[in-house]
Amino acid sequence: MTAPLQDAQGRGIRYLRLSVTDRCNFRCVYCSPSEWSGRADLLNAAELERLTRIFAALGVVRVRLTGGEPTARKDLVEITERLARVPGISELCLTTNGVRLPELAGPLYDAGLRRLNVSLDTVDAAAFRLLSGERGEAADVIAGIVAARVAGFSDLVVNAVVLAGVNDKPSQLAALVETAWQLGATPRFIELMPFSGGTLVPTDLVLARLALAGIELQPEVDKTSTPPRGPSVYYQHNRGSVGFISPITKNFCGGCNRVRVAANGDLRACLGGREQVPLRTMLRDGASDGAIAVAIRAALMLKLERHDMDAPRGRLLPMMGIGG
Ligand code: 5AD
Ligand code: SF4
Repeated sequence: MTAPLQDAQGRGIRYLRLSVTDRCNFRCVYCSPSEWSGRADLLNAAELERLTRIFAALGVVRVRLTGGEPTARKDLVEITERLARVPGISELCLTTNGVRLPELAGPLYDAGLRRLNVSLDTVDAAAFRLLSGERGEAADVIAGIVAARVAGFSDLVVNAVVLAGVNDKPSQLAALVETAWQLGATPRFIELMPFSGGTLVPTDLVLARLALAGIELQPEVDKTSTPPRGPSVYYQHNRGSVGFISPITKNFCGGCNRVRVAANGDLRACLGGREQVPLRTMLRDGASDGAIAVAIRAALMLKLERHDMDAPRGRLLPMMGIGG
């Protein structure tokens, strides 16, 4: 029996974020370079499955498919089916912009997917268009969330990144929360990370503006959950809860349990780090599972205690193809 995966700080690594494409039909201003077209040499479904088996043997129990936009991949349902069957993976999740869910929610549910995060930064139509780089409509995302409910997804999270001057008015924030609750989803605000454009709105300010708009939230009482649900903190209201992820103003790296693989197969120990290990070449050059496992362990031994995104070092490696 091999020792479970740990990083240099002794943190157990149980959660793999696997990007399946660097393409996206949106151009969200905080995410993507506007000229981005997608160019990675992608891992195929068999390679994604093999990598997942190797990570599962090292103790990973939870996998999230990310992008770019995962639904841009034609074989997403096949990938989902293959990964859902990997022994040891007890939870398979997907992050999506939601617009293809009307066709895909049913097939994905049948393939074994159970948890969905849908990105919806605002329900204000004009602000949504602006944020998505004039590629998306909030109404289409809402239709996708409804389709997901109908298909059977009960554990739905709506992710919103708040940008100063775009979608940060108290009324816009409150409308998003109300809409998510009405759709049976949990809204969750994520602080802007410096991948691309936009100005950060700190979590405390979002909380204050929600209160101004009549949504007063109570900090969560019981912060313990097993397994830990990652960096989110959930605040309560009698009508539902609201999550907050605060990478910039409340560093959460101490509880980090994750590792990332980019769409091209580069292992990234930390989203805020600049180091990467090219697993694709190993997968294609005949490396054994054992050799790949050794390379994964070695990469995690370089993982720092915390990200330094808040330090003035300029932009991070592009988000596209890493998936948050
Ligand atoms: N800051 C915070 N979150 C981001 N995402 C993309 N870019 C950023 C950023 N700069 C997140 C969005 C989206 C998911 C795909 O990645 O929340 O929901
Ligand atoms: Fe696409 Fe998501 Fe990035 Fe927006 S945030 S451009 S939907 S990958």
